[in-house]
Amino acid sequence: METVKVAIVYYSATGTVHALARAAAEGAEKAGADVRLRKVAEPAPPEVIDTRPEWAQHVRDTADVPVATVDDLAWADAVLFGTPTRFGNPASPLRAFIEAAGPLWFQGKLADKVYSAFTASNTAHGGQESTILALANTFYHWGGIIVPPGYTDPIQFQSGNPYGASHVAGEGPVSEVALQSARHQARRVAETAAAFKAGRAA
Ligand SMILES: Cc1cc2nc3c(=O)[nH]c(=O)nc-3n(C[C@H](O)[C@H](O)[C@H](O)COP(=O)(O)O)c2cc1C
Repeated sequence: METVKVAIVYYSATGTVHALARAAAEGAEKAGADVRLRKVAEPAPPEVIDTRPEWAQHVRDTADVPVATVDDLAWADAVLFGTPTRFGNPASPLRAFIEAAGPLWFQGKLADKVYSAFTASNTAHGGQESTILALANTFYHWGGIIVPPGYTDPIQFQSGNPYGASHVAGEGPVSEVALQSARHQARRVAETAAAFKAGRAA
């Protein structure tokens, strides 16, 4: 059977979500998936980015990460979206990317794929769940199969977030627990998508 294809599409200004995205890529690869790790285009002009040295540094550090296109969504059997929490919602660059996928949605090409999401926020109650649930609204519109991590692995009892892998950036660098949670989430997404793909091919 054809290898299951997993796209990890994320936005990150200062690297937190990028770290989770990389861990997710590792998890999906470990599950045997063909993985595309893609950042969404950075819409901010350089003079704005340069006002925050950590933002400018992250842009430089990830210059080699390919920019996501809607073809990556069409290609994938499963997509994990990563975004910072901004005012309790997904960041607008990721929303802009999602809205560019309108024609694919219209053609029914986003349906029957597995979707999942992960996030970071500055505070513990800053809106991680609302951000992930807001993305789920879109997955419903697309006719997606939402696969959350739940408490399906012991690491989830440490991360404490059944909605998706997450990190509280205000508490410091991305923790090993958050990275393991992202690996688990992506592995689960890849395995579910593979089972679904095999079932359809049978
Ligand atoms: C415009 C804006 C809005 C934000 N809103 C929230 C928020 O609602 N709750 C929160 O905890 N953090 C908020 N943050 C902090 C970001 O979530 C945090 O910086 C981000 O998760 C770091 O991810 P990154 O390093 O991948 O960019 C906000 C940041 C910005 C720039």
